[in-house]
Order: sequence, then C-alpha cells, then structure tokens
Amino acid sequence: MVELRSRYLGLELRTPLVASASPLTGSLDGLRRLEAAGAGAVVLPSLFEEQLTLEAREVGRLLEAGAESLSAAVALDDYNAGPYGYLALVEKAKATLQIPVIASLNGVTRGAWVEHATLLEKAGADALELNIYFVSSSPGLGGSDVELRYLDLVRAVRQAIGVPLAVKLSPYFSSVANLARQLVEAGANGLVLFNRFYQPDLDLDTLEVTPRLVLSSSEELRLPLRWIAILHGHMGRASLAASTGVHTAEDAVKVLAAGADVAMMTSALLRHGPEHLTVVEAGLQDWLEGRGMPSVDFLRGLRSQRSVPDPAAWERANYITMLATHPDQIRTEAR
Ligand SMILES: Cc1cc2nc3c(=O)[nH]c(=O)nc-3n(C[C@H](O)[C@H](O)[C@H](O)COP(=O)(O)O)c2cc1C
Repeated sequence: MVELRSRYLGLELRTPLVASASPLTGSLDGLRRLEAAGAGAVVLPSLFEEQLTLEAREVGRLLEAGAESLSAAVALDDYNAGPYGYLALVEKAKATLQIPVIASLNGVTRGAWVEHATLLEKAGADALELNIYFVSSSPGLGGSDVELRYLDLVRAVRQAIGVPLAVKLSPYFSSVANLARQLVEAGANGLVLFNRFYQPDLDLDTLEVTPRLVLSSSEELRLPLRWIAILHGHMGRASLAASTGVHTAEDAVKVLAAGADVAMMTSALLRHGPEHLTVVEAGLQDWLEGRGMPSVDFLRGLRSQRSVPDPAAWERANYITMLATHPDQIRTEAR
C-alpha cells in the first residue's frame, strides 16, 4: 500500500483528500458518511459575520462567564439558533469523528464577532478556516486598502485563537503571491486556493437577478493548479490546500504534484455523494503504485515551479508557445 498520510495545518491526516465546506459537512449524518468514505479531514460550513454581529454582545457575556460546557450554554440560552447550533455541531462532530474537524468563519471586517472564533476553538475545532468573501464594488476603494482589510482580519482572528488558522481567498488580486506571503506573515498557517465566487445571473423573461448555483467541473482546476505550483516552496511552513475543480483521482494527483498539501472537494461530493471519496482514494493509490511511488510525499511538489527561476517569464513563454503552436484551434474557436 502506498502511504497517503499527509500533514495539513500541522494536523496528521490519513489521506490528503479533504471535504471542503458545504451542506454535506453541516450535518452529523453527512460528516459520518464522509469519514466512513475516507475523508482525511472535514471543513464545516461557514458561520457568517452577519449572523455573529447580532450575537456579539452575547458572545462577550459567555466568554466572561467562562462557560464550561458550550452545549449547556446552548441548551440554556434562547439566542439565535445559528451560531450556538454551530457550536453544538462542532462539539458533536468532535465527539463522533476521529478525523480533524475544521470550523469555518466567513467575514470581511474586524469586529467583536471575531471573538466567536474563541468559542469555536473551545468547542473543540482542530483548526479554523477563515473565508474572506469580499466583493469590492466601490470605485473609491483601492486594491491595497482591500488587502489591508484582509490582513487586519487575519491578525484579529489569529489573536483570538490558539489552533491553526487557514485563510480561504479568491484569485482576484493583482499580486496573489505577495498577498499570500503577507497573509502568512499575519498569522495564517495555511492558504486555501481558491474560494469560488457565487455569480448571479439575469433571467431574460423577468429581468430578475437569479441566484444560480452551478457546481464546478475539472476544467476549473487549472486556476488553483497554477497558483499552487507558483506558491509551493515560497510560503515557509504554511500549508497549501487546493479547492475548486478537484473531481477525480487525476485531479488530485495534479494538485499534489503542483505542491498542494491537501486536495479539497465539494462539487464532486455533492454530485456523486460522499462515497465518491473512496473512488478518488483508490485511483490515487493506483496512480502512485503504477509509477512506483512509495508515498504521496514523493509526488508532492514534484511539478511545482520551485525549480523555475522566474515563474512569471516561464508562464509568459508558455502562453506565447500555446498561441504559436495552436493557431488552427484558436482560429476555429474565434469563428
Ligand atoms: C452548496 C455549496 C455550499 C458552500 N458553502 C460554503 C461555505 O459555507 N463556506 C465556504 O468557505 N465555502 C463554501 N462552499 C465552497 C466550497 O467549499 C468550495 O470551495 C467550492 O465549491 C469549490 O470547490 P469544488 O470545485 O470542489 O466545488 C460551498 C459550495 C457549495 C457548492
């Protein structure tokens, strides 16, 4: 058997296949199925800043009271079910599962709500993922101001907790590599590349804006693949997780070869069920075994751009080569 054990955020995982945040990880039943199918770790769905801002005063009171049993606090209090129900989910998940449980917060601004991270840690979360979902739509707000917000928030959450912190970010920055490094310096122990933005559509009959959830496909893997390959080896001890477009064992092999510590999956598991993890793990085993690789560590980062002296020039050269060598395909697609 090929050794699949992997480390992510300092945690020991049985395999590098992780179930990312989604409704599947939001119930004990879903979590049990994911563990049974072989998930190396699970990321719970996010709690939102908006939910927690309402609760910030109560959170402060709980912290002051030094609530010993958060479950008891949940039972006693008649607060908004969201945040407290979430704490109960973390506690139950920890009591039920053997694999690491990563809680998730989604926010954009520093504020009292960040203290909730402390409660997630007390409830037993092995690590925290901070999803910063900020769509900057103000023409007056510059790119560096947006980045400062990110860094500010990461510092605040880092101060609030002792467990490892991962930051899930979008690819839409002018210098992803620079921001990645700054996030690590601000206290991120890992980066999740990337968050997938929800993009609403327009209904042409009603001209209404319609929410449209489209699951990803393997085609979308190339964006995280490229950035993991570029960042691998440049983030100190921080971990890298690939998210978006991991559907098959081949997809997992690619992101691991690029240098990801773990490959995260949501769309594939929603489409095929948690048991799909078993298929991907078997495929990963077969692939490694077929190439005589003794462990996943042997593969990890083998095709990163660490050995390329100037990745930007290399990327540009590849782009030019692609255009130069596929003129027929380009002409066909342009028609
Ligand atoms: C229905 C659904 C719910 C999701 N909920 C969350 C969430 O609560 N927090 C989060 O950080 N990401 C959430 N995501 C994003 C996924 O964790 C993942 O990053 C994204 O779907 C890209 O990965 P994939 O290509 O494997 O689907 C959600 C995705 C879907 C499809």
